[in-house]
Amino acid sequence: MKPLRIGLIGYGFMGRTHSNAYRKVNNFFQLEHQCVLQAVCARDAAKVKAFAENWGYQSIETDWRKLIAREDIDAIDICTPNNSHAEIAIAAAKAGKMILCEKPLSMNGPEGRKMVAAVEKAKVPNIVWYNYRRVPAVTLAKQLIDEGRLGRIFHYRAKFLQDWTISPELPQGGAGLWRLDAKAAGSGVTGDLLAHCIDTAIWLNGGFEKVNAMTETFIKERKHTLTGKVEKVGIDDACAFLARFQNGSLATFESTRYARGHKALYTFEINGENASIFWDLHDLHRLQYFDYRDQSIVRGWRNIHVSDGDQPYMKHWWVPGLQIGYEHSFVHQVADFLKGLETGQPAGPTFREALETQFVCDAVLKSAKSQKWEKVAKAR
Ligand SMILES: NC(=O)c1ccc[n+]([C@@H]2O[C@H](COP(=O)([O-])OP(=O)(O)OC[C@H]3O[C@@H](n4cnc5c(N)ncnc54)[C@H](O)[C@@H]3O)[C@@H](O)[C@H]2O)c1
Repeated sequence: MKPLRIGLIGYGFMGRTHSNAYRKVNNFFQLEHQCVLQAVCARDAAKVKAFAENWGYQSIETDWRKLIAREDIDAIDICTPNNSHAEIAIAAAKAGKMILCEKPLSMNGPEGRKMVAAVEKAKVPNIVWYNYRRVPAVTLAKQLIDEGRLGRIFHYRAKFLQDWTISPELPQGGAGLWRLDAKAAGSGVTGDLLAHCIDTAIWLNGGFEKVNAMTETFIKERKHTLTGKVEKVGIDDACAFLARFQNGSLATFESTRYARGHKALYTFEINGENASIFWDLHDLHRLQYFDYRDQSIVRGWRNIHVSDGDQPYMKHWWVPGLQIGYEHSFVHQVADFLKGLETGQPAGPTFREALETQFVCDAVLKSAKSQKWEKVAKAR
């Protein structure tokens, strides 16, 4: 097997999900490449050393530039806050490294375009971690749509609800709270949560044409962890938008961190002329499906337990009836990326594909300001 020597940057939430995926993927998938946990990088030497020991990384770095300069690294995995993705990815591309970058690709579309140009100029394999595509039930939804089972699609409806920023005492910025700081995150729920909904929607339902959005920042000022001062909050706490897709369907999207009682309620529903689909992250191994062509006396919503060997990814895991979970979507992403290296058919979303999501986010934020419909710029 060919070694694929990983250099991971950032050991937070995503650093853990990705490390877990690299460790497991070769146990469950037959691949030409073997993932090697070559090095992990973060700024705090003691913490990064402890992380390396826990996950089995062979070495550590405290400066990502040194990691990128190393000749014994094949792929750079970017698991740092959004404002560092572009600088790291462009440097990694120049050094000829493959890049696996966390979402959102960039702070905004123009920055994302530079990243796309860099990876395409360097001809390095690249992918963005929109992992929900690889939850088997979501992949099955894609299969059903591509088979034409839904027919013409009329409606797409998605939401991603959380409730963790309601307290005005919660500071902004710094470790764990960079998502509340617009300088680190770029935007609030739009780039953080709706970006997932938008990526899935583009994958399942095609490109966006235009959007009409409203956003709100409920808590206007918060203490900044790094400066100690009370500062203006620049992120959107909540966002809802209408959209028209290029295929003529109408859509609604909503996200907030102020929906008391919800931790990560990502759901989508798609209504076509023949059939409908519904998926809920809290019940992620199930896909709900209604087919009007069923005989009327048994017609109704089917609750498909996606665990059978002929359903996406499942033959690699346990026996039918036993489900898998959130972390497996990351294992699948690594498996598909490695398959893409073997076949020459890159797994998506590539940087260029993920740029489409960035342009939708830009149009959403622009519309929230202009209070008008805004066209989505073309990424291709
Ligand atoms: N795919 C998903 O579902 C998903 C989920 C959560 C987060 N994310 C994305 O992953 C990225 C990281 O989010 P997270 O939740 O893991 O954040 P986190 O705060 O848990 O971890 C961020 C890590 O980056 C490190 N870091 C920050 N600046 C650095 C620098 N200059 N050099 C080296 N290390 C640095 C921090 O020390 C920390 O280890 C973000 O872009 C986020 O949007 C994606």
